[in-house]
Parts: sequence; C-alpha cells; structure tokens
Amino acid sequence: MISSVFPVRLGVNIDHVATIRQARGGFDPDPLAAAHLARLAGADQIVLHVREDRRHANETDLRRFRETVSLPVNLEMALTEEMAGLALSFSPERVTLVPEKRTERTTEGGLVLTPDYLKALDSFSRRCMEKGIRVSLFMDPDPEMLGRIPVFGVDQVELHTGSYSQAFGTSREGEELARLSAAATQVARQGLILAAGHGLTLFNLPRILGLPGLAEVNIGHSIIARAVLFGIRDAVSEVRSLLLAPFGGGSR
Ligand code: PXP
Repeated sequence: MISSVFPVRLGVNIDHVATIRQARGGFDPDPLAAAHLARLAGADQIVLHVREDRRHANETDLRRFRETVSLPVNLEMALTEEMAGLALSFSPERVTLVPEKRTERTTEGGLVLTPDYLKALDSFSRRCMEKGIRVSLFMDPDPEMLGRIPVFGVDQVELHTGSYSQAFGTSREGEELARLSAAATQVARQGLILAAGHGLTLFNLPRILGLPGLAEVNIGHSIIARAVLFGIRDAVSEVRSLLLAPFGGGSR
C-alpha cells in the first residue's frame, strides 16, 4: 500500500562495510566507496553509527563523508559529550540519537526518555539548531515513551522495527505491525516526521510502507548482506581468470 504522494526516502547504513574493514584493520573495503556507489544506485542519504568503541565507522569516515559525499549524512550516535562534540564539529544534516550498550551486537531498543535524558537532549538540540543539524530520536512503538518527546528541538522519530522484523512471518507479525501503525499515527499527531529502521529487508519492507505518513527508511544489514552475496560471483571469477590467464584465459 502506498501511504504518501512522495516516495519514501532511502537511507543506506554503511556500518557493515566498515565492520568488514575493521576485521583486518586496513583500508578495504572503503565505506566511502560504498557511499558513492549507494548514491549512484539511488540512496537518498548515507547513515553511519559512530559508536563509543569505534567497532565500525569512525570520525575519519565521518570527515571524509562530509567532505566528499554529496548526499545528506545521518549520524547515529549516543547522547554523550564525546559524540555531541563530533556531531557539532562535523555538522551532519541529521543526527539520530540511539541508546548504546557496549555489549550489544546492534541497537537493541529505542530510547528511554528519562528526565535526565530530556535535560541533556534539550541542551544538545539547541546547539544542533544553531548549526542547522536536525535531530531524530530512535524510539520503540511505545505510546507512553513517544508521548515524552519534547515539542522543541526534535523534528523526526525513527521507529525501531526490530520486533516487527523478528515477528515477520510468524503469528505475531500482525500485532507488531499494528503497534507500529498506532505509533505512526501518534507520531503524526505530535507533528513529527516518521522514519523507520532496523532489521528491514526486501521481504518485510512492503508492509512497513503502509505505515501512515512514513517518510524514510534506513537500512543497513540486509543491503550489505545481499551485496556480499551478489558480489561473490564476480569476485571469484576475477581471481579465476587471473589463474587461467597463463593457459589462454577463459573460465570454468
Ligand atoms: N536505524 C537505526 C537508528 C539503527 O540504529 C540501525 C542499526 O544500526 C539501522 C537503522 C539499520 O538497521 P539494520 O542494519 O538492521 O538495517
């Protein structure tokens, strides 16, 4: 189902390209090259998450993106002094605030908006506003938590679709989709732009596109996973051709 007169924007998260690079500690594969290719393929923005432990993307990636990628950059980050400093010095078009646990494999849930967090958010979003950086919050489809989003300083909510993606194809799918749908309606009522992300794939995405008012999806793991698989044939053939070259070339 189509929910908007505008196509839903696609943010491509290149963290997992950086994860492969970090496995060897060198320069390949370069997330910047991936960002340029994603742009040529139609991505609307590049997403990267600079984590406290720098397990994938880092500030050098962020700097190179800002200097050479003509797409908007969406920096995912935890609200810490260090990350706030990074965001304010590199001025990405958007910051998406996410919770971060050092031991988690990926961002496991949405933000918990405690009074202390909201105080820090207020100060950060004011500084972002001065720099023209827009602020999005990564939230679970939880009405009570969504209701705590301040009216000032935040213009977008990215709904965490992880529970839906895990429930996809099971008896819980409808229930998770209904939670997202109710949250989407609430986000619109609160006057915020709606994005969605986490665990989205070519298969579970179509139903997400029916969320009322959806403006943007951010996808990482499944795009990089498919890129690895679809690229294997060519990568192996290149080496095979080199090995066969002394024998007149050709392939098996
Ligand atoms: N959006 C946010 C806020 C995220 O934290 C992540 C994971 O880094 C994604 C989107 C992308 O999730 P996935 O890699 O599962 O597509």
